[in-house]
Amino acid sequence: MIYLDNSATTKPHKEVLQAFIQVNEQYFANPSSIHKAGVESNALLTKAREQLAQLLNTEEKNVLFTASGTESNNAALYGLAKSSDFRGKHIITTEIEHPSILEATKRLASEGYEIDYLKVDKQGVISLDELRAKLRKDTIIVSIMHVNNEMGAIQPIEQAAELIHETCQAMLHVDAIQSFGKLPIRFNGEKGPDLISISGHKIHALKGTGVLAFRKKPQVKPFIVGGGQEFGLRSGTVAVPQAVAMAKAARLAIEAMPQHVENYKRWANDLHDFFARFGEEVYVLSSRNGAPHIMSFSVRGLKGEVLINALQKRDIIVSTSSACSSKQTKTSHVVEALNMDSRFKNGVLRISFGANNTDADIEAFKKQFIAVMKELKGEFTS
Ligand SMILES: Cc1ncc(COP(=O)(O)O)c(C=O)c1O
Repeated sequence: MIYLDNSATTKPHKEVLQAFIQVNEQYFANPSSIHKAGVESNALLTKAREQLAQLLNTEEKNVLFTASGTESNNAALYGLAKSSDFRGKHIITTEIEHPSILEATKRLASEGYEIDYLKVDKQGVISLDELRAKLRKDTIIVSIMHVNNEMGAIQPIEQAAELIHETCQAMLHVDAIQSFGKLPIRFNGEKGPDLISISGHKIHALKGTGVLAFRKKPQVKPFIVGGGQEFGLRSGTVAVPQAVAMAKAARLAIEAMPQHVENYKRWANDLHDFFARFGEEVYVLSSRNGAPHIMSFSVRGLKGEVLINALQKRDIIVSTSSACSSKQTKTSHVVEALNMDSRFKNGVLRISFGANNTDADIEAFKKQFIAVMKELKGEFTS
């Protein structure tokens, strides 16, 4: 099987699984316990937190472990909204965020917050002028994803941060779930983002692991209350093995980033050239300036499921543009926001690369795609 759906999830690295098992076996004690075994597992937890803090350029006390990217995003929005509403209730985000942001903003809207959604251009990128125009004195949060999960658009995070911090006191939250390990994303002193979300299973760690990190001491209202773990901000016995696995995967992702990104760029360029050979039959949504690990495209008049099944029969695994929307029949909100030609809207597929892919996988994809096009559309001989 050639797995090209790494933006939906990745296979955990062997070293990461080994660390997870080892910690489960040797350091299973509750890190809040005061006995020796508890102190030892707490020491491991602190080390994992320190590693992540270092990778993100913040302090250990600013890193919270969560149980998913979704939780990190929800906690960022609710936590900030509920702790800052004395200053205002205005929130800005984009219309192409992941549902874990968009559904949270919808709920906040029902609780009296005012939400503005930034539009995107055909390449999926926001306009800084629109952001400037929408920022207000009572804006408390701006939440912008770094890399879009459906088509790989990269948002101008650094410039957005500069603009926000010059204009008002709003905090910039960045959903970096698709960018961590593929593009540089870190805190940057007084500039840059204020909060960053990452998710373990997108970086060859385990499902059900996430991080919400802060540039400075977190001042958010706790989202989950109870025993006061995670500096009182996220109660629940901390999953030390998951945290250690997450820190390990994050370190491996950052260390290997230059090599992986070089591969992803080469494959993305190759596929852009390849799809161009099909002329008007294939429309590529991803831009050459986008994140190199995500390539979205659509074949004129063909439904996504039909293409997925045809490729799957040939052992090639790709997905519709997002795993979350793949079981839904309606066109995704991202595809709608891009204002695409309607003949291409129903069939958007996403190829996404990960650490385990090779040149041979891309060659196999191309070969099988040609075969599928011949099978389904007949007229292709290229
Ligand atoms: C951009 C983005 N944000 C958030 C999430 C949610 O992360 P998780 O699956 O860890 O809940 C995803 C997952 O696909 C994503 O791609």
